[in-house]
Amino acid sequence: MFETLSATPPDAIVGMIKIAAADTNPKKIDLGVGIYQDKVGATPVMRAVKEAEKRLLREEDSKKYIGIHGNPAFNSLFSKLIFGANSEAITSGRLATAQAAGGSGALRLGAELIKLANPAATIWVSTPTWANHQPLIGSTGLRIKQYPYYNKETQRIDFDDMCAELRDNAKVGDAVLLHGCCHNPTGADLSESQWQTIADLMLEKNLLPFVDLAYAGLGDGLAQDSYGLRLLAGIFPELVLAASCSKNFGLYKERVGLVGALCATPDDAKLAHGQIGLTMRRMISMPPDHGAALVAKILADPALTADWKTELEDMRVRMTGLRASLGEALLVQGAEQMAAAITAQKGMFSLLPVSQEQADKLRSEHSVFLLNSGRINIAGARTETIDRLADCILAVL
Ligand SMILES: Cc1ncc(COP(=O)(O)O)c(C=O)c1O
Repeated sequence: MFETLSATPPDAIVGMIKIAAADTNPKKIDLGVGIYQDKVGATPVMRAVKEAEKRLLREEDSKKYIGIHGNPAFNSLFSKLIFGANSEAITSGRLATAQAAGGSGALRLGAELIKLANPAATIWVSTPTWANHQPLIGSTGLRIKQYPYYNKETQRIDFDDMCAELRDNAKVGDAVLLHGCCHNPTGADLSESQWQTIADLMLEKNLLPFVDLAYAGLGDGLAQDSYGLRLLAGIFPELVLAASCSKNFGLYKERVGLVGALCATPDDAKLAHGQIGLTMRRMISMPPDHGAALVAKILADPALTADWKTELEDMRVRMTGLRASLGEALLVQGAEQMAAAITAQKGMFSLLPVSQEQADKLRSEHSVFLLNSGRINIAGARTETIDRLADCILAVL
């Protein structure tokens, strides 16, 4: 019967990773993959994670199931980290949480919860957005629409168009997916005043914020990167959060994330908690524990937390430094707009104003690897090759 299946289209990113790996040019610059890399191109296990693993190995005395909502210490400590330990979201009893299989699992669980509560809801996503948002959320059967977000030519957020689209076309009860920080693929984040404007608009139109926080700590710093989420949590009766520990704890393959539903009342939160658990059971039954146990160990120990924060900050500062260097190198050659955009953008990604042909040229003629969309991962750059990178980008434009 399996011969009836249709062949899946080749994965463009996987294909590109293979081509980049096969390129033997010693001057190769690989900005394609979506993971953090250090100055020698490695993605090491973070120090605090290694230490937590040692302790876990020593202390763990059973592998019995932990529960349908995952590791309770992880859910509690990670929620506090993100929302703020003394925030109303935490103290009010209005927040239902569960451990999820990465940010992706959290997005899927969040979308399923929205569907259960309001099957007629449309989920609005930014143009452009992370390539997996539509498949993950669309698999629930919910309708997806797009709002304008970023203009690749001007390299700026289309904020007026974003607001106009949501004001004119979003319906009561629709959910708006917002990148909490470090927008993927553009790196262009809302300013504090833009967060306020969009919050006012959504509140007035009775829209549900659905916040995807996949890069907390890698933009402006841990607390600052939760600015939008915390603002919304302070004024909305309800919101949904999908957060990831893949990037900021470097726990990619362990699949650790958190889904949260802030509800109007503690009773509603109990209902949401129950339905998230039921959805989890229907999808995978019990979630895995290892990664969440590590995060819980780190966040429960002040010394480990401090070390984790130091290393996270080093990663952030490295990327900010690379952005500034690339900006300077572009500016020297007169590319003012691109220099300003890349310097100001946050996190791992920026979207270069290149066509697919120009992206092809960067790969084939200059051994500079990026996605067809023009997305680069700044963490793939090195101080020594920044000038060459600027030259190559400008050569194809
Ligand atoms: C915007 C965004 N959300 C969510 C995720 C999910 O990450 P993971 O499922 O690996 O935790 C990613 C990963 O690249 C992302 O870029």
